[in-house]
Amino acid sequence: TDAPLVDTLNRPLHDLRLSVTDRCNFRCVYCMPKEVFGKDFAFMPRDEMLSFEEMTRLARISVAHGVEKIRLTGGEPLLRKGLEELIAMLAELRTPAGRPVDIALTTNGSALAMKAQALKDAGLKRVTVSLDSLDDTTFRAMNDVNFPVARILAGLDAAHAVGLGPIKINMVVKRGQNDHDIVNMARYFKGTPYILRFIEFMDVGTSNGWDMAAVLPSSEVLGRIHAELPLEEVAPNYTGETSRRWRYVDGEGEIGLISSVTQSFCHTCSRARVSTDGKLFTCLFASEGHDLRALLRDGSSDEQLSAAMGAIWRQRTDRASQLRSAQTGAVRSTGTKIEMSYIGG
Ligand code: GTP
Ligand code: 5AD
Ligand code: SF4
Ligand code: SF4
Repeated sequence: TDAPLVDTLNRPLHDLRLSVTDRCNFRCVYCMPKEVFGKDFAFMPRDEMLSFEEMTRLARISVAHGVEKIRLTGGEPLLRKGLEELIAMLAELRTPAGRPVDIALTTNGSALAMKAQALKDAGLKRVTVSLDSLDDTTFRAMNDVNFPVARILAGLDAAHAVGLGPIKINMVVKRGQNDHDIVNMARYFKGTPYILRFIEFMDVGTSNGWDMAAVLPSSEVLGRIHAELPLEEVAPNYTGETSRRWRYVDGEGEIGLISSVTQSFCHTCSRARVSTDGKLFTCLFASEGHDLRALLRDGSSDEQLSAAMGAIWRQRTDRASQLRSAQTGAVRSTGTKIEMSYIGG
């Protein structure tokens, strides 16, 4: 296409996050609390979900618009049957410059030991694994399905062994729940090939009972680690990176801090999200998506889809975290909001 695609704040579209299922085998307290996502919760019926062909079509059009990275999310993406087929289809896409697309996956790691090799063979480049504690009791309480930490560690080993990397580890920090394990996590992953990142507990969705008191600011995470394992800041890998990088002064690797509550990164946000049922969300905190599935299923041409997506991005004004922190950070953003498990992290 002609002019480069940017939104009203001059942010390009670089990163597409495809949610492939709204289901998860975990009930993390900050994401899918059992009181809300219980036995009677109505998950999405199959016919409402995009097929792999439909997802790949959206991905191809997005890549033509400038997307260079596709991240598969959920729910738990490895619960979607045959996910390797989708990965293989996405691995064939090429950017306008002829390069393959960076294909990544965010997973809770519970099925990684079993699936790592097949994912790698299908063309997956790297995985990011959520891991909130190394302390088994704390971990079981946070995933709330009594899942043992040892099986996640086995999944990490498997992913590393088959060459899925660099592997990142996401720890959502909730004050009073797992913050006692911060330094232990840092120590454990220091000097390993894994990059540990600490995420501030965010007020996404409406069901996780968010409260500023449960947010441990990244500055405090940094302080606690730095006091025992000295760190220095490193430049970002790329513009729009969610995480601030800090490396150990002894050269034994780095950590990341994702501070969406206390230091928003909206000014460089180049992420578009597509839900399992084909709605395009231009922000994690959006209340409504744009229904692309309707266009996918009404005979619209690629040109029409492309024009629709381009128009949505050009009109984009989102900067929810930035606006929230302008209100001192203590105020929960209001209104109807989508759940993280529906749109992916
Ligand atoms: P890489 O740089 O490729 O590793 O990707 P990433 O940092 O975008 O990936 P990841 O999915 O691991 O994101 C980490 C976490 O940051 C997510 O789980 C969210 O909690 C948070 N996050 C990611 N993108 C956004 C965003 O656009 N807005 C906000 N507020 N939070 C985000
Ligand atoms: N705040 C911050 N991160 C969250 N995630 C899920 N819910 C929240 C929240 N409320 C993260 C998970 C995982 C990714 C899918 O999103 O830890 O890394
Ligand atoms: Fe599942 Fe990930 Fe949400 Fe935990 S954070 S409930 S693993 S989707
Ligand atoms: Fe992007 Fe919205 Fe997150 Fe800001 S709050 S970084 S605009 S997704």
